[in-house]
Amino acid sequence: MTHLPVAQMHDFMVQIFTNIGVPETDAKICADVLIASDLRGIESHGIGRLKMYYDRIKQGIQKPVTHIDVIRNKYATAVWDGNHGMGHVIGHKAMQTAIDKAKLYGLGSVAVRNSTHYGICGYYADMAARQDMIGLTFTNARPSICPTNGVQPLLGTNPICFGAPTNLPYPFIYDAATSISQRGKIEQYAREEKPTPPYWAINLQGEAQTDTKKLLDDLIEQTACMLPLGGTEEVTGSHKGYGLSAMVEILSAALQNGSYLNGLWGRDAEGKAAPYCLGHFFLAINIDFFTEIEDFKAIVTDICVQLQNSKRLPGRDRIWVAGEKEYEKELEVRKNGIPIIANLAKNIRDMQEELGINIIHL
Ligand SMILES: NC(=O)c1ccc[n+]([C@@H]2O[C@H](COP(=O)([O-])OP(=O)(O)OC[C@H]3O[C@@H](n4cnc5c(N)ncnc54)[C@H](O)[C@@H]3O)[C@@H](O)[C@H]2O)c1
Repeated sequence: MTHLPVAQMHDFMVQIFTNIGVPETDAKICADVLIASDLRGIESHGIGRLKMYYDRIKQGIQKPVTHIDVIRNKYATAVWDGNHGMGHVIGHKAMQTAIDKAKLYGLGSVAVRNSTHYGICGYYADMAARQDMIGLTFTNARPSICPTNGVQPLLGTNPICFGAPTNLPYPFIYDAATSISQRGKIEQYAREEKPTPPYWAINLQGEAQTDTKKLLDDLIEQTACMLPLGGTEEVTGSHKGYGLSAMVEILSAALQNGSYLNGLWGRDAEGKAAPYCLGHFFLAINIDFFTEIEDFKAIVTDICVQLQNSKRLPGRDRIWVAGEKEYEKELEVRKNGIPIIANLAKNIRDMQEELGINIIHL
């Protein structure tokens, strides 16, 4: 394994995106979101995902130039059609629009349809938190999760993200899938040639699926499914993960008259690759309309600190709050660089070779 400096990786990503037709300003936004993921230690959604966007643009199912149609725009709310453009660009513009609306109306919200994979939700919630607002965002994703008592993969890993400013060195950012694992982590396990842990996914007979490469193939063929938070049983809360995932699906599809469940399969009627038609939802809450920002931050900080300092389970040395691990990881990655494993190095070499560029020497 080797490590690459963050700035060099950012330049490389911008070069790849611009070489496949993404305008430079947009390429920088895409690279920012991917780098934010690597900085937070979410290896599945950073440089590890670049080849996926590259391949989708080459396949013609994602457009490098983003044209957004405003379907509705009323006071605090808007509905956009992303026309299969760059999800990161759409996400960045949508959250900033939600924030701008919240400056005027106290709340601001944008619902998006026909978008593409927008990366980590935490990037967008962080935008709001840094502008003294609460930020929430949700997105649906390719079908891979079964409902409680089912084996048909219909829901996506449908993440939930909530960000709020604090007086700590980091905002409180809860950002996670509503399934036990997100799909990108399974793809990361495939790159690392590791088995998938039991309990994450099952086959149609309900047996654990731990062969990572087979699982990824089976998910595409819909002959395996990943499990909602809580697993297969109500006694461990399966219905709660399933319910939250369905909530995200509704917010990502119904308000914007968009696609949902199997409509996000990424295949047309003949089984050929087709756009994923993803939907997102963004909400900004202007704290200043409710209370003094300093009072809000003091309370959020106190909640975090009391949780961190509360009594621990025997054998556990630390209690964390959401956003804290990512902050510490960022300090480490900025110092040591972004880790590049062998399979990822190959992806980087392949893209450089195809495009005739030579920025990273691996
Ligand atoms: N775009 C998409 O389609 C899509 C789909 C799924 C997930 N994702 C992204 O993948 C990323 C990772 O998702 P995940 O489900 O693997 O997340 P995860 O299981 O790693 O959980 C991460 C969240 O939990 C918090 N956390 C971690 N350990 C903690 C602890 N001990 N105590 C308190 N909080 C703790 C983190 O601060 C963070 O907010 C997210 O950024 C998410 O947005 C994207």
